[in-house]
Amino acid sequence: MFEALTAKAPDAIMHLMAMCKADANPDKIDLGVGVYKTEDGATPIMRAVKKAEQLWWREEETKTYVSTVGNAAFRSAMLELILGADMAEKYGARIASSQAAGGSGALRIGAELIVAANPNAAVWVSTPTWANHIPLISSAGLKIETYPYYNRETLGVDFSDMLDRLKSGANPGDIVLLHGCCHNPTGADFSRAEWDVLAKFLPEHGLIPFVDLAYFGLGRGMEDDTYGLRKLIESVDELMLAASCSKNFALYRERVGLVAVLTKDADSAINAQSQFGAIQRKLISMPPDHGAALVARILGDPALRAEWSAELDEMRDRMRSLRAQLSDALNVQGGEVMAAAVKDQNGMFSTLPLTKDQAVALREMHSVYLTDSGRVNIAGTTTSNIPRFAEALLSVL
Ligand SMILES: Cc1ncc(COP(=O)(O)O)c(C=O)c1O
Repeated sequence: MFEALTAKAPDAIMHLMAMCKADANPDKIDLGVGVYKTEDGATPIMRAVKKAEQLWWREEETKTYVSTVGNAAFRSAMLELILGADMAEKYGARIASSQAAGGSGALRIGAELIVAANPNAAVWVSTPTWANHIPLISSAGLKIETYPYYNRETLGVDFSDMLDRLKSGANPGDIVLLHGCCHNPTGADFSRAEWDVLAKFLPEHGLIPFVDLAYFGLGRGMEDDTYGLRKLIESVDELMLAASCSKNFALYRERVGLVAVLTKDADSAINAQSQFGAIQRKLISMPPDHGAALVARILGDPALRAEWSAELDEMRDRMRSLRAQLSDALNVQGGEVMAAAVKDQNGMFSTLPLTKDQAVALREMHSVYLTDSGRVNIAGTTTSNIPRFAEALLSVL
């Protein structure tokens, strides 16, 4: 039977990682895969997570199954973290949620919920978007459409083009996937004023927002990074959310995520809750518990929570400082637009206006590894490699 299989092309980002690993140049610069790194290139376990693990090791009494929708303390702590402490009072009865295997699992469960509710809905994604959005969502059986988003000349958001496309192409009931903050791959986010416009535009056109919040806390701070989501939830009847703890708790391999939906009324939320359980059951039966138990432990303990929050601030401040340093290094003739954009954009990524040939030249001539689309992991730059990176970049442009 298996001789019928054909080989799949390697995942572009995994291939890039492998090429970088094989490069013997001691000065190589790895700006590929989206993980946070320190100045010495490590991706450490957060101190609060280590402490929570020690406590949890003593406290955990069983490894029996939790539930198809996962850890209840995790779900409510995450919803409060993202939507505010008065979340339950304001929307509690209209929200259904499930723990998921990372942000990816949350997106997939969300997609399956859309299929169960309205299989004809199209899901609109930005151009460009995170490389795995389209496979994750379309393989649930949904149609994907795209809206313009990133302008590769101004390196900003083409907001009016986006609205025009949705106005002319989307049907009521369609879903609009939005990056809540730290857009991957571009780093270009909506301004507060643009979120305010979306909060009116989407319900006016019967469109349902699906907010992907994979980097909250790592852009400009928890309040700013959740502004758009909070604005939308105040203004719409229905909304979907996929959140990840991979980056902001550095729990990547533990696969911790949350999917949630705001429904029009409490009865629909009860039905959505049962659907979440059934969807997870048919996909993977139960989500993994360890990482979610740690997040619940941290968010539920004031001292650990404060420690985690301070560490998250450190990570965010470091990336903002790297952006400022890179911006200064690029601020020469011909580099001004990039310099301004890199400083202004948010989170781990920026997409630079490189052609594929220029990205290849950076790899082959300078041992600088970034994706062919020009996406750079800002957390892969360091105070010491930024001058060399900027010089290489300007030389290929
Ligand atoms: C925009 C976006 N959404 C979701 C995810 C999913 O993250 P994970 O499944 O690792 O939690 C990522 C990860 O890179 C991402 O960039």
